[in-house]
Amino acid sequence: MKKTVLITGGNKGIGLELAREFLRLDYNIIVLARDFHNFEFKNHPSITTISFDLTNIGEIAKLVSSLGTIDILINNAGVMYSLPYNNYPDDKIESMLKLNIEAPVKLIEEVSKKMIEKGNGRIVNNASIAGQIGHPDIWYGITKAGLINATKSFSKIFGDKIVINAVAPSPVETEMLDVIPKERREAFLKTVISKRFAKPEEVAKTIVWLATESPEYINGTCIDINNGSFPR
Ligand SMILES: NC(=O)c1ccc[n+]([C@@H]2O[C@H](COP(=O)([O-])OP(=O)(O)OC[C@H]3O[C@@H](n4cnc5c(N)ncnc54)[C@H](OP(=O)(O)O)[C@@H]3O)[C@@H](O)[C@H]2O)c1
Repeated sequence: MKKTVLITGGNKGIGLELAREFLRLDYNIIVLARDFHNFEFKNHPSITTISFDLTNIGEIAKLVSSLGTIDILINNAGVMYSLPYNNYPDDKIESMLKLNIEAPVKLIEEVSKKMIEKGNGRIVNNASIAGQIGHPDIWYGITKAGLINATKSFSKIFGDKIVINAVAPSPVETEMLDVIPKERREAFLKTVISKRFAKPEEVAKTIVWLATESPEYINGTCIDINNGSFPR
C-alpha cells in the first residue's frame, strides 16, 4: 500500500523539491500551503493540495483529524522577515512565532497520535543554521532554535515509536534568499567551501533520507547542511 506524506509549504522552494522526490518514490502526497496558483503538480493524481494558513493554530487539530493516516510529516513551511530587533512590528513577531514554531509543534502533536497508535512514523523539521549560530533576524533565529529543541524533546517523549529529526540548512536558493540583504549574502558566500548557496534539491534529498531510509538510530538530532560554514 502506498504511504502518505504531509508536506507543509510543499508548493514552492524546498517543499516543491520534496514533493518531486516523494512523487519519484510513489507516495501519496498532501501538500499544505496558502497559494497553489503556480503549483506545477496541482492536478497530479498522487497529490492532494490543501489551502490552509498555518497561523490558524486553533484549526490544526480539526484539519489533521480529517486527513486519515499520515506516515510521514515534514514541517517545512516557514517565513523570515530579516527585520532588526528594534524595529519589528508586533504582528510580524506573532505570525512568525505561529508559523515557524507553534504550527510545527501542533502538527507534531496531532499527527503523532495515529503514528503512536500504529507504532511507527517519521517526522522531519526544517529548521535552519539560524537556530544554531544566532541570526540578525532575532525572531527567526529564536523560532528555528526552538524547532531544533522541540525535535529533541519529542524524540524523548515518543521513544522508539517515531523517528523525528531536523535539518539546519544554511542559505538556500529559494525566494527566501531574496529577503537576505545583499551584503549578508556576499559575506556568507565567503564562509562556504563551494562558494555557492545550497540548492533546494540538496536540502530536500537530505530530508527525504531522514523521512524514509535513514537508520532508526539517527533520532532526535539535527543534520547540518551548511557546506563548512559552521564546522563543529
Ligand atoms: N531558503 C533558505 O535560505 C533557508 C535556509 C534554511 C532554512 N530554510 C527553511 O526552509 C523552509 C522552506 O523555505 P524555502 O526556502 O523553501 O522558502 P519559500 O520558497 O519562501 O517557501 C516557504 C513556504 O512556506 C509556505 N508558507 C508561508 N507562510 C505560510 C502560512 N502562513 N501557512 C502555510 N504555509 C505557509 C509557503 O507557501 P504559501 O506562501 O503559498 O503559503 C511556501 O511553501 C522554511 O522553514 C525555511 O525557514 C530556508
